[in-house]
Amino acid sequence: MIEQTGWAQDSLLEQAFCDAEAPIRQRRSGKLQNQNRIAQVALDLPLEVCESGSPEEILASGRVLARALAAHVAQEDRLFFARSFCGSVIATFWSSVEGNRAPHIPLRGQFTNHRSFEMQEPAASLAVSMGKAAARMDVIAASYCIGAAYTALLPEQMRSRWGVYYTPPTLVHRLLDAATIAGVDWRSCRVLDPACGGGAFLAPVAARIVAENHHLSAGELFDALSRRLRGLEIDPFAAWASQVFLDAVVLDVCREAGRRLPVVVEVCNSLLQPAAEGEFDLVIGNPPYGRVTLKPEVRKRYARSLYGHANLYGLFTDLAAQLARRGGVIAYVTPTSFLAGEYFKSLRALLAEDAPPVNIDFVVARKGVFEDVLQETLLATYKRAKRIASASVHFIVPAMGDSLVVEPAGTFSLPCRSSDPWLIPRSADEEPLVAALRSFKHRLRDYGYEVSTGPLVWNRHKRQLRRTASARTLPLIWAESVTSNGEFVFRAGKKNHEPYFEIHAGDDWLKSDRPCILLQRTTAKEQNRRLIAAELPKRFLSENGAVVIENHLNMIRPINGTPQIQARILTAFLNSEIVDRAFRCISGSVAVSAYELEALPLPPPERLLTLRDSLRSTGDRKAFEARCAALFQA
Ligand SMILES: C[S@@+](CC[C@H](N)C(=O)[O-])C[C@H]1O[C@@H](n2cnc3c(N)ncnc32)[C@H](O)[C@@H]1O
Repeated sequence: MIEQTGWAQDSLLEQAFCDAEAPIRQRRSGKLQNQNRIAQVALDLPLEVCESGSPEEILASGRVLARALAAHVAQEDRLFFARSFCGSVIATFWSSVEGNRAPHIPLRGQFTNHRSFEMQEPAASLAVSMGKAAARMDVIAASYCIGAAYTALLPEQMRSRWGVYYTPPTLVHRLLDAATIAGVDWRSCRVLDPACGGGAFLAPVAARIVAENHHLSAGELFDALSRRLRGLEIDPFAAWASQVFLDAVVLDVCREAGRRLPVVVEVCNSLLQPAAEGEFDLVIGNPPYGRVTLKPEVRKRYARSLYGHANLYGLFTDLAAQLARRGGVIAYVTPTSFLAGEYFKSLRALLAEDAPPVNIDFVVARKGVFEDVLQETLLATYKRAKRIASASVHFIVPAMGDSLVVEPAGTFSLPCRSSDPWLIPRSADEEPLVAALRSFKHRLRDYGYEVSTGPLVWNRHKRQLRRTASARTLPLIWAESVTSNGEFVFRAGKKNHEPYFEIHAGDDWLKSDRPCILLQRTTAKEQNRRLIAAELPKRFLSENGAVVIENHLNMIRPINGTPQIQARILTAFLNSEIVDRAFRCISGSVAVSAYELEALPLPPPERLLTLRDSLRSTGDRKAFEARCAALFQA
C-alpha cells in the first residue's frame, strides 16, 4: 500500500474561497455554525434514470437530479452539499478506477476544515451511481462531467464571483495542440495552470507528458511529473479534485514507481502570490473573468496592464506574462472583449510588447460550450518574445460528439500603436479587407467627428419620463428610433419607453441641441448588421430646440464647424455592408462602443466625396454599396 501523502492544509487558504460565502455565514445562527445541518432531501425523483444508459447519460441525468436535490437544501448549506455530494462521487470513482490492486493507492485525503454535509438518500445512492459511471469513462472526460456537476451545484453567487466555469475536453485538447505548435516541448516543459479548477488542463497535460516521454523509466517519469506540473486554485475542494484526477491519469506510472504524486496544486489566491521571475515554459488555463475592485496594493502590482475597470481575466493574463519564462508560451481561454475594449488597452500594449499572439481561435457557439456562459470566447496562444510576424486565426465549432470543426480564417498582425484594437479577419475572405484597414491612417476624427454615448440612463430618471409633451419636456430619443434601414422615426413603443422627458433644474447636461448621427450601441446577435445609424433630422432638432438621447445610442457629432464629410453621406457610409464588415474585424461583440467606433480605420476623407454623387443621382443601393466597397481596396 502506498502511504497517504498529506494535503497542503492551510486554513487561511480555505478561508479565501469561503470568503465568498461570508455574508451568508454571518446571517447563520450560532447553532448552525457549529453543527452540520442535515437537509430534508426525501424526494420522489426518478432515480432509476441513473441506473442505465451510457456513462455520459448517467452523469448528465445525475447532474440534473442532483441539482433538483440541491434546490431542497437550505441556501447556506448549498456549498457544503455540493462538496459532500461531489466528494462522494469522486470517492466512488476513485475506488472503481483504483480497483484495490497492489500496491494499493488510497484516495488522497481532502482538505480537512470544511463542514461535511451528511448525505441522505436519495442523494447518497445518486452519488454512488454517478461515481461508478464516471469510472467507466476516460479519466479526462469523467473529470469534466464530475466538474460540471460540481459547478452546477455551487451557489450561483459564488459561481459568478469566482468565475467557475470548467473547460470541456475538446477545447482543452485544441489549446494543448496550439501550445505545441507555439513551441511547447512536452519532454521538458514546466507547466502552470494558475486557476486550475477541477483539473481540466492539468490532467491532460500530465497525459501528454506521459505520452511524449515513453523512453523514460517509471521512476524518471514520476520525477518529471512531480517537478514539472503545478496548479493554483482558490477553491480547496476543486484543488483536491484536480489532484485526484491527476492521480487517476498517472495511476499506472505511480504504481510502477511505487509512489504517489506529491501535492502539486496549491490552494491560494493566485493574484496575491509573490511576484516571481518567469520559470514556466507554459502557463495554461481558463482564468476567471468579471469586473473586480482591487485593493490599492493589488492595483499597483498589475498597474502595467490596467486602464480603468479591472477584469479578472486581464489580471490573470498579466500574471501569466509574469510567470512564463522568456520564450515560454501562454495558452488561455478568455472572453474576446480585450481585443478591442478601451479598458483593455494597457493589456493589449503589454501583450504586444511582451507576449504577442501566435494563434487565436474564436469559439463559435453562444450557449452550451460552457454551461451558462454568454460571453464570446476565444482560445489564444501567446509567446513571450519580442516580435511574432503574424498570428493565425481560426473559427472552431464544437460539433457532434467530441469533435471540433476548424475553419482557418487567415492571419493578422498587431497594430503599429500597441494599445490599438486588434484587427482580425473573421473569415479567410476578410484577409484583404484587414490588409486595407491596416493601411488606413484616418479615423472618424479626421472626418471631423467625435463619438460619445447618449447621456440618459433612463432607469435612474424613471420619474421624469412622460407620455405627452409639455412646456417642460423634450423629446426622448430611444435606440428604437433608429430603424434598420437607416431612418429616424420618433417613437417609444417598447416596454417602459415613453416619448418625452421632463427637464428639471440641473438637467442641462442631458440636453442635446447639436446635430448628430445616432448609432445603436447594441444589436441582437441574429441581426445582419452591427452598425445601424440614422441622422437626427435637423428639422426635428430645430422644431424642438433640443432632445434627450438615451444611453443605448452613440452620438456621432461634428467636432466643430462644418465637417469635411456631410452627415448624410457619413450616415449612409456607416450603414454600408463594407463598413459593417470592417467594424466586425475590430469587434465580434454585439455591443458597439464609442471607443471602437473612433478606432475604426477609414479610407482618406477625400475619397468619400465620390459617394456624394452616387447618393444624389440614384436610389440604387447596390451601386452605392459597390462604391463604398471600392473605397476599401488597398
Ligand atoms: C473559469 S474556471 C476554470 C477552471 C479550470 N482551469 C478549467 O478550465 O476548467 C476559473 C477557476 O478559477 C478559480 N479562481 C477564481 N479566482 C481565483 C483566484 N484569485 N486565484 C486562484 N483561483 C481562482 C475558480 O475557483 C475557478 O475554479
